[in-house]
Amino acid sequence: MKRFIAAIAAAGVLYSFAASAQTYPVKSIVMIVPFAAGGPTDIIARFVGDHMSRTLGQQVVIENVVGAGGTTGITRAATSPPDGYTIMMGHMGTHGAAPALYPGLKYDPTAVEAVGMAASTPILIVAKKDFPARDLKEFIAYAKANAGKINQAHAGIGAVSQITCALLNSQLGINPTAVPYSGTGPALNDLMSGQIDYMCDQIVNLVEQIKAGNIRAFGIASPARSPALPDVPTTIEGGLPEYQVQAWNAVFAPHGTPKDIVARLNDALGKALADDVTRNRLLGLGAVLPGKAEQTSEALAAFVKAEVARWNAALLKR
Ligand code: MLT
Repeated sequence: MKRFIAAIAAAGVLYSFAASAQTYPVKSIVMIVPFAAGGPTDIIARFVGDHMSRTLGQQVVIENVVGAGGTTGITRAATSPPDGYTIMMGHMGTHGAAPALYPGLKYDPTAVEAVGMAASTPILIVAKKDFPARDLKEFIAYAKANAGKINQAHAGIGAVSQITCALLNSQLGINPTAVPYSGTGPALNDLMSGQIDYMCDQIVNLVEQIKAGNIRAFGIASPARSPALPDVPTTIEGGLPEYQVQAWNAVFAPHGTPKDIVARLNDALGKALADDVTRNRLLGLGAVLPGKAEQTSEALAAFVKAEVARWNAALLKR
């Protein structure tokens, strides 16, 4: 009798598991953004999440859970039930550099389920609008001469803005005051008001304010200019060719999320990136969108493994 009841119970579990994957989603899905609203991670999550909601027939609700360079929000997401109702927008910091920077990290970027790549984002060196320099050469000269007086914003240790500006600062041999924020959305507000002198940030956060003349761009750290900002020279043109760095954002789900739910999410993300309105919004802000082959879960899983190894090698040898 006991064996019979156990068999019925097991069958019930299997049935409800299969049914849940088939009917998914039956309620709204939370996408955790590990930085403040209004910044690059949030912008990309809201653009793709909006279209994913339409494909999935349930709302993808963005929840901003900030702290510790994005690792607080990603820890919350990665340790949530693996049922497809909590997913996360990660990036080069949270799913690449974090293991090297946070020895007690409570999640493994290579073990969470990779849903799909959302976008790559070139990095720009930007400064307050009255920064006393006309181009990258003058920016470098001023920063070197005034390193003890100027400040720089970032979104916490391990954030893209922190890692990429640490790289810039070490190439310039300067160590200015670093001011941490919960995201580069709020940091950008203080750059515009002149409380912050400069920062390194993902292009999608910056295009509108550069075009409006509210901040200055001294260089884009990629081999070619961005179609979204054709007037901004590359760091190669500006005389700092060794400063080359590009960030990325991708969607993940907690480890153990059923494969068919991951596939549904990947399909919805792919449809968002294929949608003209969503595409044009992202391209207009300078994002570089993945090709079909880079959009698969398998491609992202392999890419994240390589990123974690790359950042381990770069950061742990210092
Ligand atoms: C960063 O890592 O600097 C983030 O992209 C900040 C943000 O999204 O606000």
